[in-house]
Formats: sequence, C-alpha cells, structure tokens
Amino acid sequence: MTSSERVRERIRAVEGTGMRTFWEPEPVVWARTEGCHVWDAEGRAYLDLYAGFAVANVGYCHPRVTEAIREQAGVMTHCPSAAPSEMRAELYERLLGIAPPPLDRVLLAITGAMANETAVQLARAATGRRSVVTFSGAYPGRTVGAVRYAGKRAYREQFGVAADAYFVPYPDPYRSPWAGESDPGEAALRLLENALTDPASGVEPPACVLVEPIQGNGGVVVPPHGFLRGLRELCDRTETVLVFDEIQCGFGRSGRVWACDHEGVVPDLMTVGKGIGGGLALAALLGRSKLMTTWEPDAVTSTFLANALPTAAACAAIDVLREEELVERSARLGAHALTRLQDELAGVGDVRGRGLFLGLELDDAELATNAQRALRERGVLVGRGGRYGNVLILAPPLVIEDNVLDGGLDAAVEVLA
Ligand SMILES: Cc1ncc(COP(=O)(O)O)c(C=O)c1O
Repeated sequence: MTSSERVRERIRAVEGTGMRTFWEPEPVVWARTEGCHVWDAEGRAYLDLYAGFAVANVGYCHPRVTEAIREQAGVMTHCPSAAPSEMRAELYERLLGIAPPPLDRVLLAITGAMANETAVQLARAATGRRSVVTFSGAYPGRTVGAVRYAGKRAYREQFGVAADAYFVPYPDPYRSPWAGESDPGEAALRLLENALTDPASGVEPPACVLVEPIQGNGGVVVPPHGFLRGLRELCDRTETVLVFDEIQCGFGRSGRVWACDHEGVVPDLMTVGKGIGGGLALAALLGRSKLMTTWEPDAVTSTFLANALPTAAACAAIDVLREEELVERSARLGAHALTRLQDELAGVGDVRGRGLFLGLELDDAELATNAQRALRERGVLVGRGGRYGNVLILAPPLVIEDNVLDGGLDAAVEVLA
C-alpha cells in the first residue's frame, strides 16, 4: 500500500459519507503546497491550475502570508469576535482600500456561504421584504441558508431544503434559453423587469438580487456586456438591494480587482471570500453605509469571526496582491491563455473567461471528467463545473510564472485537441 492509499483508507474508514471528492478515480492526497504546486504523499508534484478551488490567488504558502501567520501566532491566535483588535482595524482598512467606492463598511464572515447569508439577512432587514432573486447556475454555498439560492436543485434535495428565491436564467451566451439571440443579457433583464414591475407577475417584491458577476461553479460564465448595468438600473428603480457575489470571481481573479470593475458597476453589497484569506478561512460582506448601519449591535456574531490568524493572513494577502501587481498579471496572462486556448482548441465547444479565470465547455460531463483525469495523470490539476459538470475550469494562482502556465496549457491542449 502506498502512503497515499494508507491516508485515503484511514479517512474512508471513519468519515461520514457526503464529503466532496475531486480528481478521481482516487483523490490526490495533499501533503505540501508551495506557489502553484501541490505535492502528494509520495512526493509527486502537481501543477495546480485550480488554485485549490480558486483560493490560492497569491500562491500557496506565500512567504509574506506565512510570516504574518507565524508572527501573529506568537502574539495572539484567538480574539473573540466581541472584542476589537488592532488586527481587525488593519484588515478593514485594507479591505476598503481595494473595495470599489462607495462601498465603505465591512462585516466579517468565515465562509463564503456565511457572507452570502449575511448579505441576504441584511437586505431583508433593510427593506422589510423577504424574497430573493437569483440565477440558474448560481453557487452561493451549501449551508441551509445559502443553498436556498443555489441554481442546482440537487444540492437542496439532499438536505430536504426548499428553494427560497425567484430564479432567472443566467444570460449564458453559449447555453441558455436565449443563446443565439442577439443579446441574452437583454432578454434576462426583460424577464426580470416584468417579474418585478408587473403587479400580476405573481413575484413578491424581493429584498435583493443576488448575482455572481462571472459565474464560477456555473462554468465560468461571463454575462454579456450591459447585463450588470441593467441589473443596477432595475434594482435602483424597484428599490431592491443589489448584491454581487465576488467570492470566486473577485480578488484579482478576472484581471481586475473585482469582476464588476470590468463593467464599472458597483453593487449595494458585495460578498468576498476564498483567496482573500491568503489560504485561511475568511470572508466578508462589503457595503454602502446606508445599508451597513441597519442593524442594532448583536445581530451578527460567530465565535471565530475576526480570528487573529486569518485576519493577519488576509492583511498580508491583500498587500501581496497590490504590491506584486497580481491583478495586472492576471489580466496579462489570462489574455495570453485565452488566445492560446481559443486558437489551439477550435474543436472545443466554448473557450471563454476573463483574466486567469477560464472555462472550457465540453459536450458532456464524461468528456470533461476524462480530460480532468488525463490531466491529473500528466501532473496537472484543473477544476470542473458547469450546469452539466461539463466545463473544465482553469483558475491558477495569479503568481504563476509565464513558462509554468504555458506548460500547463500545453498539457491541456494535448489532452483536448
Ligand atoms: C461564487 C461563490 N459563492 C459562494 C461560495 C461558497 O463559499 P464557501 O465554500 O466558502 O462557503 C462559493 C464556493 O465555491 C462560490 O464559488
């Protein structure tokens, strides 16, 4: 038995079922990470073009993040969320330093799902309304609260949770009810406008519209230009809170700090997570003061909110993003990767994306799974998502070197061409 087999067996013997597995047939056992690489228990290196589920934006174990964690661990690890700390002030200043104005207040969360739940709770409190508009293909997280707004019914059915939203088809230019129409974004907006403004539509006026500016797990779907602006105008007109879920597409991933920056549209509330913690669990809700000062004290708490280690790691990760100009790097390398893949993979259904956030849409899940496996055998890890599980997702660390990225792309072309 290999070390990896032993590890998998020790876990399998005692773990409850239901945990997600990836990179089948046998999941890679992670033993060590650095930069854009992962080593398994046998010491085999993998190039991780998925950044551990779009988390390692600044790279794994970035020396500055590691140093910040070490230093903080020597001073204070836990600080209850009810107690202010200088670290928390530092983090807020950094988060707002990269937030699109006029977003000027922060509430912390631990996971992306929790940040999305906080956003919906706040929108409800502020508007006195309760329903939510979301989109097919959306992935807001799996907690009982967040999963109510997930596009995939199957996520809820496993938990016996009912949907709690009006779902609008996401304007996917490649695969949506309006694909092929001149502007699927316009079509989605018309449908939503009717739902929100026709008194006979049967749709409750929503507290908020919750939307990913680029859908991540939905398959790296970039909506048509003008869609986010249309949502902004419709929300203004109907006094609906506009929430952007930037948990996956934000923090430099798309070649701008936030995916909504491409369209110059600012939401009322914005959720961030994944890469922002530099590899530790941290998420946040950013928003406009008017909304963010709705609650009385004690509405928001969780034991480990503002825990000192993720707070220190997030401060360092934000500094690294800025100082190493990783957003520009994401834009430059992403444009190169997109051109290469579009040129060299003409037979693939759709190759799309922004920055270092790319989706390769294949005909079906089997093809995508086989490609993911073949890449894994070549030592390259990629993600897989999409409404049918048929989209390969490339979201490498933004620190990836040019030639290393090209090596990964060579492998992808070889497997898919
Ligand atoms: C867009 C988006 N929102 C929310 C989440 C949920 O975040 P978490 O897994 O940290 O709860 C994810 C996770 O993949 C995501 O991609």
